[in-house]
Amino acid sequence: RGLNVRSASISRDAPITTSSGLPLREVPGSYGLPFFGAFFDKIAFYWIEGTPNFYANRMAQHQSTVYRMNTVPQPPFFPVDPRVIVLLDQKSYSTLFDVDKVEKADVFVGTFVPDLQFTGGYRILPYLDPSEEKHKILKSFTFEVLKSSGRRVFPEVHAALSEVFVKWETGLKKNGKVKYNEALSVGSVRLNSRALLNADPTDPDTKATLGRDAPSIIKSWIIPQIIPMAVIRLPTWMKVALAPFIELLIHTFPIPYALVKSKHQKIVAFVRENAKETLDMAEKQFGLDREEALHNLMFNTFFNSWGGLNFLYPSIIKRLGSTSEEFQRELSAEVRKAIEDNGGLNPAALNSMPLVQSAVYEVFRTDPPVPYQFGRAKKDLIIESHTAAFRVKKGEMLAGYMPVAHKDPKVFADPDVFNPKRFLGEKGQKLVQYVLWSNGRQTETPTTHNKQCPGKDFITTIANLLVAEVYSRYEILTVDGDTLVSVKRVSSGLKPRWL
Ligand code: HEM
Repeated sequence: RGLNVRSASISRDAPITTSSGLPLREVPGSYGLPFFGAFFDKIAFYWIEGTPNFYANRMAQHQSTVYRMNTVPQPPFFPVDPRVIVLLDQKSYSTLFDVDKVEKADVFVGTFVPDLQFTGGYRILPYLDPSEEKHKILKSFTFEVLKSSGRRVFPEVHAALSEVFVKWETGLKKNGKVKYNEALSVGSVRLNSRALLNADPTDPDTKATLGRDAPSIIKSWIIPQIIPMAVIRLPTWMKVALAPFIELLIHTFPIPYALVKSKHQKIVAFVRENAKETLDMAEKQFGLDREEALHNLMFNTFFNSWGGLNFLYPSIIKRLGSTSEEFQRELSAEVRKAIEDNGGLNPAALNSMPLVQSAVYEVFRTDPPVPYQFGRAKKDLIIESHTAAFRVKKGEMLAGYMPVAHKDPKVFADPDVFNPKRFLGEKGQKLVQYVLWSNGRQTETPTTHNKQCPGKDFITTIANLLVAEVYSRYEILTVDGDTLVSVKRVSSGLKPRWL
């Protein structure tokens, strides 16, 4: 708070050009009248326009991919300043990845920080700026955890997804259709936790097990941390009836930690009991406090990784299950050939699946699991879009909305079309750098000096593995929204061998 944005001395459409020849413009848009400006933006964001329209409408209105607006949540019950400058094209968006230009402390979920009790009282890694010493230590620890998960990834994904497929088929046989994410969400919690913690929270024999309710217990801890920014999609008549209640319940006050404390404590106990070796390593190798390591490990495993997978995995099934039969047959043929050529579904086989990789990049492009990115200008900046340059004052908050930046027509042809072959070939490979889901380019590498997601390669691998597993078993999926309507098993009789 206390940012005097309106008094910033920004020249009005001065006829100045930057060194790259772009005209220097004032950032368009305004924050409106005190309180009312923010209030109307909030109602439009949650209830009238929703996302992505809220962003796209203002982009059209201001004829600019960079503009000012009020974001959510808002005061008085959230201690935040809602005024932001939005970045919606590929060029300006990359400012958010440059940690010399933007401060990334305490902006992980947006302009607000959930109660620290959700993370054991610690400011965990995603909330730290790389200039903080702890960032380096905790990110190195995270890299080590991911490295040691390496051997488990392929077999655990296979084991968990095999169970998912059986559940899908049983559901289809019984009811003629099945909500694919019910089994998928359980499968992803298993494969993710087995890979990263070497323990399954749903297994009744695991110490401090969470049992069959593991997904809902973990979601109860995740959701209150992000719900203040959630747009709830309801039919219009329900919106009118329910909006005031929903608004009051979930968008007006931070959800108190006390409501989920007991569930949070169960997850903590599960990690404490099952990750002893990893926590020993954190203490010995990285000099970390055991509790701090535990809360970081838990957050990475269940909030970052599984939370993200809960968006990514269903998006993959929905998108691919809606492609043509011809494309799906081609995908299945590629998967089966790579498995046969490489003696199993192993890393070499996965690397020989360009169509799978392209399709996964396209899902990341159309449905980035984390849509928002924030960063506060560390100094006075000139930010360039494709058509203009904008002067931004030190301390102003920058807010990226990735679903629009990922549809930048200057970079992607037919950006609104889901084209799973988009990233194929030499031309397609050149587009991979514009896939930004990991808070950085897909062609770049997370390090202790940047804020790119350390799980970038892990997640890319298990996303590719989902497609490989599905299309080694099925030739065609037919999907209607969140429902799987039919599957056609592969008919060639070719049985892939597994690692
Ligand atoms: C950071 C996305 C999986 C650990 C981030 C950020 C994004 C992201 C967008 C940057 C947030 C920001 O500062 O603006 C995702 C998605 C995932 C995923 C969509 C799954 C689909 C993982 C996994 C791990 C992980 C598997 C580790 C096991 C982290 C950490 C950070 C981070 C520790 C902070 C990095 C830093 O401070 O330098 N992730 N992530 N994430 N992610 Fe991921």
